[in-house]
Amino acid sequence: MHHFTYSGGSLQCEGVSLDAIADAVGTPCYVYSAATLKRHARVIAEAFEGQDCLIAYSVKANGNLAVLSTLAQEGCGADVVSGGELQRALKAGIPASRIVFSGVGKTAVEMDLALEKGIHQFNVESAGELRLLSKVASVLGRKAPIALRVNPDVAAGGHPNISTGKKGDKFGIPWSEAEALYAEAATLPGIEVVAVDVHIGSQIGDLVPMRAAFEKIVGLTRRLREAGHTISRIDVGGGLGIPYKAGDAPAPPSAYARMIAEVMEGMDVQVILEPGRVIAGNSGVLLTTALYEKPAPDRTFLILDAGMNDLMRPALYDAHHDIVPLKEPAADTVTATYDVVGPICESTDKFAVARELPKVAPGDRLAFMSAGAYGAVLSSAYNARPLVPEVLVTGDRFDIVRRRPSFDEMIELEQVPDWLTQTA
Ligand code: LLP
Repeated sequence: MHHFTYSGGSLQCEGVSLDAIADAVGTPCYVYSAATLKRHARVIAEAFEGQDCLIAYSVKANGNLAVLSTLAQEGCGADVVSGGELQRALKAGIPASRIVFSGVGKTAVEMDLALEKGIHQFNVESAGELRLLSKVASVLGRKAPIALRVNPDVAAGGHPNISTGKKGDKFGIPWSEAEALYAEAATLPGIEVVAVDVHIGSQIGDLVPMRAAFEKIVGLTRRLREAGHTISRIDVGGGLGIPYKAGDAPAPPSAYARMIAEVMEGMDVQVILEPGRVIAGNSGVLLTTALYEKPAPDRTFLILDAGMNDLMRPALYDAHHDIVPLKEPAADTVTATYDVVGPICESTDKFAVARELPKVAPGDRLAFMSAGAYGAVLSSAYNARPLVPEVLVTGDRFDIVRRRPSFDEMIELEQVPDWLTQTA
């Protein structure tokens, strides 16, 4: 469910016409719906009502401060993977006690910051990281609360580029080594073992692989408890899929919550969730303007002002995003088939191949749907294109929550050395 619908002949976000936003801000630009973000957070919270549960929104999906503040108001915690994400979450008002720190490459500086702030938990991904964390915590006179992220060797079934829980993936502690590393963790002076963590991938629509992974984790938790460890939390990661197009029917949060309740029955743990896409994905769109129609012998290219630098998912994962006109097409609208591309000098700058759309004329505006997660965060300034603005809508008002940088701002960190500017 989201709040992007046609009304009065044009696509609206909540009570605001997307054309009005494009007029004010220009295109390309991202637009997020606060009501949709809140709704998604609430749907998850309601699905887990009655279970001891921490919803740690995965900041990597969309880390805009206004998005994080919206979710902070809903009581969400955060799953962060860098010192930068940690600082964003804190700045948005998410308490450290509701923040978990994931990621395979935490540095000593990041550990130090997280310990100083007093985060809920570190999800440790290697023996080297565990030992370093113990040292950093000992220097501070602290004990770092940890989970080991274990790799359950379960195939998630999604796109291979976003699957993380199979043997051979760089993520997690290999299944066969987990218990030995827990035993070592218990001996380290700066470590307090509190949890087990797993995350098998993203955009997973089918609960079967998740259930298989969680059952393995529950088994492991039992063995760890028998070995004397105090495990009071199980972090099940993120990964729940969303519909990107008509006909997609990923498992809903209610079924996911029921499955988790069943698997965790009798475990007496706090369940930590790290949802990203399921909260942010359908809460955002990318607005773009058609620049040219370019006929080729065997196809017609539709060239947009948005490029792969603004929305990387199609180029990276062959991802599908619905593309819809801002003006509502009439029932008898003529359609045309396009290869929809951007202006970037790369052949992978392609959003869709042979996509049938209501006929588009240069100057028409379009929206990429479901672009709220892994959209703006993955964007770059490639081809010296400014990062695109982000807008947050609530009810009938909209606010620019990240503005488009000027050319001077884009180059202000660069410096040409003296020897290049001094004339002989
Ligand atoms: N927790 C961990 C440890 C993760 O690695 C991820 C995502 C999440 C939680 C959140 O997963 P979600 O609920 O959003 O599926 N850029 C790709 C997705 C990469 C996901 C990376 N990790 C895409 O655009 O499809």
